[in-house]
Amino acid sequence: MMKFFISVLLFAFSLLGYSAALQQGKSCIVSMNCDAGLHCETCLANGNFIPRCTRKQPTSPLSKVKGLPFNRYTWLTTHNAFARLGVRSATGNVILSPQNQQDSIANQLHNGVRGLMLDMYDFDNDIWLCHSFAGTCYNFTAFQPAINVLKEIQLFLEANPNEIVTIFIEDYVTSPNGLTTLFNSSGLRQFWFPITRMPKNGGEWPTIDDMVSHNQRLVVFTSKASKESSEGIAYEWRYLVENQYGDDGMLAGSCPNRAESHAMNEKSKSLVLMNYFPDNPDVSIACKHNSDPLIDMMNTCYQAAGRRWPNFIAVDFYKRSNGGGASEAVDMANGRLVCGCKSISSCKENMTFGACELHQVTIAPSAAVKKETSGGKFDSRSNRLQWITALLVAILSL
Ligand SMILES: *[C@@H]1O[C@H](CO)[C@@H](O)[C@H](O)[C@H]1NC(C)=O
Ligand SMILES: *[C@@H]1O[C@H](CO)[C@@H](O)[C@H](O)[C@H]1NC(C)=O
Ligand SMILES: *[C@@H]1O[C@H](CO)[C@@H](O)[C@H](O)[C@H]1NC(C)=O
Repeated sequence: MMKFFISVLLFAFSLLGYSAALQQGKSCIVSMNCDAGLHCETCLANGNFIPRCTRKQPTSPLSKVKGLPFNRYTWLTTHNAFARLGVRSATGNVILSPQNQQDSIANQLHNGVRGLMLDMYDFDNDIWLCHSFAGTCYNFTAFQPAINVLKEIQLFLEANPNEIVTIFIEDYVTSPNGLTTLFNSSGLRQFWFPITRMPKNGGEWPTIDDMVSHNQRLVVFTSKASKESSEGIAYEWRYLVENQYGDDGMLAGSCPNRAESHAMNEKSKSLVLMNYFPDNPDVSIACKHNSDPLIDMMNTCYQAAGRRWPNFIAVDFYKRSNGGGASEAVDMANGRLVCGCKSISSCKENMTFGACELHQVTIAPSAAVKKETSGGKFDSRSNRLQWITALLVAILSL
């Protein structure tokens, strides 16, 4: 009986070992076991069968350096942010169109997503977030009224007075003043960043501090050129360049612009957006795409964009990765943009740009990743052994 008691204790302690916060790459049972900003998952597509703590949240660059122009930062961006896996349409129908993310907009914002791609359509006497067949939204492709999601964004901006959110509207709305009415009734108008303040000839954007102090913390782009003059909503490709999306944007070593965008190296556009996701969203393969290939593409696009790091990195299933994922890509780009270092973790307020040699020995992302990956394998084996041993002892003593 005593033996049983001791082994149960042993077993409990070994589980407790898991509930102490674990770092990236360590094996885990549930997300609760992992450090903040991490969650517990496998990446079968990469042959990684043991659940590990992987990142779902980039480092906030504003926690390091606040005073730079908006275009000197990189923001994690969710492609089809509204198309949540497994939800039912608000019409009550089962959804038969592609699904690109795993959680709500509120949760995405909580996890550090700051760019949201939203497809908007006239539907059911309102504006809905939808996918379409040949330009038409149906009950079985419509997710929910856009107002619901805009209200989540409104709550976030209200609760987080130093944060800035960018919305990219794939705009199919034709109802007169449809978007203006929508944004007005969502309560987001008070945060609107006006087009008059957007640089048009490759200049710097206002600084984060300036945008925050003016409370102009919502940047909205539309894909419809005419809405810039009719409704004062910025036409996306007048202000940013963007690479090809979908399968054609995933060919290693090439980063062509999408048709609507100017050439990637057109520097009269101050912002750079990088897409990296396939035509057909796939939650099981996303962890592979969102790992090394994403970072390789970021380097390719950096060259294509005239040696400019992306300001927005847009992916499907942003939480899925084999370790650092899209969060790590964002941290790397922020490091380059904010302070000229390999990761935002090296940046400090007022440091000399590029003066990061001392830190890079320990935090160079590629070295860190390799170390963490092999460390993770080693630890997972010992963790697992510990676990199995405790379990065996517990069973044997019964
Ligand atoms: C679509 O859903 C609405 C409920 O929101 C329902 O009233 C309507 O009949 C449905 N249309 C079709 C074609 O099923
Ligand atoms: C939206 O709000 C702005 C500013 O409050 C106002 O000037 C405008 O008339 C409103 N437009 C509509 C269509 O509600
Ligand atoms: C950075 O520089 C500004 C202006 O010179 C100064 O106000 C601020 O205190 C400095 N911050 C740090 C962390 O040294």
